[in-house]
Parts: sequence; C-alpha cells; structure tokens
Amino acid sequence: MGAERPDGCLDRIEVRLLLEAIHARYGYDLREYVPASISRRVSAALLASGAQHLGELQHRVLRDPDLFANVLADLTVPATAMFRDPDFYRALRQRVVPLLSTYPRLKMWHAGCATGEEVFSNAILLLEEELFERTTIFATDLSRRSLEVAKQGLYDDDRIAKFSADYAASGGRASLSAYYTAAYGRVAFREQLAKKICFFQHDLVTDDVFGEMNVVFCRNVLMYFDAPLRERVVAKLARSLCPGGFLCLGKDERLPDSSMAPFEPFDGAPDALPIYRYQGDP
Ligand SMILES: C[S@@+](CC[C@H](N)C(=O)[O-])C[C@H]1O[C@@H](n2cnc3c(N)ncnc32)[C@H](O)[C@@H]1O
Repeated sequence: MGAERPDGCLDRIEVRLLLEAIHARYGYDLREYVPASISRRVSAALLASGAQHLGELQHRVLRDPDLFANVLADLTVPATAMFRDPDFYRALRQRVVPLLSTYPRLKMWHAGCATGEEVFSNAILLLEEELFERTTIFATDLSRRSLEVAKQGLYDDDRIAKFSADYAASGGRASLSAYYTAAYGRVAFREQLAKKICFFQHDLVTDDVFGEMNVVFCRNVLMYFDAPLRERVVAKLARSLCPGGFLCLGKDERLPDSSMAPFEPFDGAPDALPIYRYQGDP
C-alpha cells in the first residue's frame, strides 16, 4: 500500500494525467507548461465542462473532440488586444521600421497570434509606414478556435474605445475608425488588411519553423512555458530569423541568459522593451 498523499499532490498527478491523455489522443503537448498556471486553467476547464472531477473530465476529453476543443481553448489563454503596450508599437514604428524600409521584401511572423488583434495592429502600422505592400505576414496559433476569429477580423465594439486610445498612444497616424466598419455591436476590419496575412495553425512545441523572417513577434506566449521548453522554443524562433532579424517579446518577458548567444538587445529600443536582433549562429 502506498502512503496517503495530500490532496494537492493528487491534484498535480491528475493534471499531469490529463495532459498526458491530451498528448496521446490529440498530439498537443502542454506537458511542459508552467505547472501553477496550467493547473489554474485546468480548474477553469473543469468548471466550464460541468464534470465532477478531473478523472471524469479526462474520460470525456478522450472520447469527445468537441469538448476537447473547448478544453483546449480554456487551457491556452487567448487574451490579447490591439496595440497592446502602445510603447512597443511606438518603438516598432519609430526605431525598427526605418531599418526595415531598406529591404525590398519583408516576412513577418506572429507566433501565438490568438484572435488576431496584434496582427491587424501590425498590418495597420505597416500600411501607414508604406511597408504593407512589400510584406507577407504569417500569423499562427495552436488554437484553431482563436484562428477562426482572427481570420474574420471581427471584434466586439465595446473594445474599440480602448483599441483606439492605444492606437493613438502608439503613434497612429489616422483615426482607427478609418480601418473598420461597425454594425450590430461588432467592428469588422477592412478586408484589405487581411489580404497580406496568412493565418494557419502552428504549434510552437511540436512543429518546426518555416521561412526566413525579418521580424518574429512572440509576445506573451513564452511566459506559459517552463524554462527548458522556453529555451527550445527560442532556439526554434532563432532558426526562423534571417541575420539582422528582430525578435519581439511581451513587455514583461525577457530572453533567458542561456538563450542570448545568437541575439543582442536591439539598442534602438527603449530599455524596458524586449526587442532583440538575431546575429546568426554564434
Ligand atoms: C496570451 S496570448 C498572446 C497573444 C498575442 N501574442 C498578444 O501578445 O497579445 C497567448 C497565445 O499563445 C498561444 N499558444 C499557447 N501555446 C502555444 C503553442 N504551443 N504554439 C502556438 N501557440 C501557442 C495561445 O493559444 C494563445 O493564443
């Protein structure tokens, strides 16, 4: 007989078993996400599913792909916004764009784009800085459900006041309303913006990289990964950049020392902003 274990320990075991089950059944690998935050999100998924306990949730997830899609959405935190962290977009516009404008063609990748607000923000910025026509934007996420929203570019209109304020604070050159039409409580971003964006599903943990990017945005994604996974994903992002390319992280994220070798902090960025330049293999 094994010794009695405290409930917290049993919870951890059950969370681990659920993540193993998801990996074995569906191929999504969340096993190296930060334990405290994935446990919180598993609790939210349990509540939303109506299951009595994690064992029941696991049983149902294994047999019901529709329920699994809901659970995956609960586990992957699609929180995002347009012009999130206006200082970042200001630095992009004022410091990075002048360097990018020397290239005849550009490729940019939003890795973990959630429901697309960040991607449309970048598309607007590129349009205003006259780089839009020469740029291809790849926008990817683990979550198919988030990507469906992103592809439509349709957002609730009660979010637009904040989006507009952050657009203005980021140095936007017009009024955000120039880029959308509003109807029935939603705003739809102009189709012209989407014409240069390829949205597709991509898993940063299990899929390889594609193309040579001039800019990779991986903002507010690495924070969900534990340290070894973060290191592996950063190495992947480095492989996707061309020498001199930019890697942009979320405002509160930093590259760990162990991942810094092929990068240098972009000296044109204000101190608080994690924008790095890839220098090629060290
Ligand atoms: C908090 S959102 C960040 C969205 C946006 N980049 C931003 O900063 O506003 C994190 C996103 O990362 C995605 N994500 C989590 N794990 C992922 C993985 N292994 N591969 C790709 N995307 C992932 C989630 O689905 C979610 O949409």
